[in-house]
Amino acid sequence: MDRTAQEEHAANAQSVAHQAAHTIEVGDDVDPSDDGYATDDASRASTSVSSSVRDYSFENGRRYHAFREGTYLFPNDESEQEREDMKHAMVVNLCGGALHYAPLEDPQKVIDIGTGTGIWAVDMGDEYPNATVLGIDLSPIQPSWVPPNVKFMVDDAESRWLHPENHFDFVHIRNLASSIKDFPKLISAAYAHLKPGGWIELQDLYFKVECDDGSMPEDYVLAKWLDNMEQGLQNFGVDLLGPRKHPAYVEEAGFVNVQQKILKVPIGIWPKNKTLKTIGLYNRTMIIDGLQGNSMKVFTKGLGWSVQEVEVFNMEVRKAVMDSSIHSHLTFNVLYGQKPPENTA
Ligand SMILES: C[S@@+](CC[C@H](N)C(=O)[O-])C[C@H]1O[C@@H](n2cnc3c(N)ncnc32)[C@H](O)[C@@H]1O
Repeated sequence: MDRTAQEEHAANAQSVAHQAAHTIEVGDDVDPSDDGYATDDASRASTSVSSSVRDYSFENGRRYHAFREGTYLFPNDESEQEREDMKHAMVVNLCGGALHYAPLEDPQKVIDIGTGTGIWAVDMGDEYPNATVLGIDLSPIQPSWVPPNVKFMVDDAESRWLHPENHFDFVHIRNLASSIKDFPKLISAAYAHLKPGGWIELQDLYFKVECDDGSMPEDYVLAKWLDNMEQGLQNFGVDLLGPRKHPAYVEEAGFVNVQQKILKVPIGIWPKNKTLKTIGLYNRTMIIDGLQGNSMKVFTKGLGWSVQEVEVFNMEVRKAVMDSSIHSHLTFNVLYGQKPPENTA
């Protein structure tokens, strides 16, 4: 890393190992003697966390992250964490129990970008005891009791990455469509920081509601809600429907062996198939429980609505989503690709 980059990064990323409940050092994962790695960065990385990352802000009864305040528009409080964990259960169920589709072979260094509650990272640490799994997030909301090979760190993934290039075997990016402003940049950073032969995987819900049997009314209010989310997020520079562009970004970054899978995620308990019914129940609960937290900042600050307008609209959406005669679904996009192995790079 050159001098300017070091300074920029050190200033940016009070990217700190969590302390107190988290006492997490990135020391074992970040070797200051690694090429291009500044001692400053390393000491910063193992510095005790300043309490400022926990100086959360509160608005309309919800709690929001403090580090790089305002970067992420959704709450990080207990109820949102429960919802995120339920989303994890839904996704893993949908994927037949798989935590990833990339054909990993004995990965050593794994990074989970925007790890949230860290639930994927913990499961991944259990599945690959020989790997070190690092989860990074703007919020220090991960548990303290985790497998010894799992670590968490507060950092902004859209800043220059803290680790050296050619470092990771697997970069995992899940459910960040409503968060990341510059996906091409993030995917290029992942490419640079993966070892030759390493894999990237992106998994995201695609927030356009669909229906295969004509049971969804044209004025389905959930579809309108999602359109509003898309528009509001656009005003924050985020493309909610970005996942459909991700395959192109991944190929443009240089990844090879790119594969995509698109899975249907029912909304509600209308499917006859038992597994899909359970997934549909999770999805419906996830949507309903997320209405307020997801829309409040986006609609008020992004679209200029009043809090009351948001609440009234959300009540209509809640009612529509509970209607099991409407057989609607979202899709879940899985995408993975490989950094060319050394002999082909
Ligand atoms: C919808 S949650 C997804 C959590 C996790 N990836 C999962 O699938 O369970 C998005 C998470 O990304 C984090 N996040 C958003 N933007 C980020 C950024 N620029 N850098 C690091 N984390 C970010 C948020 O704080 C939040 O915890």
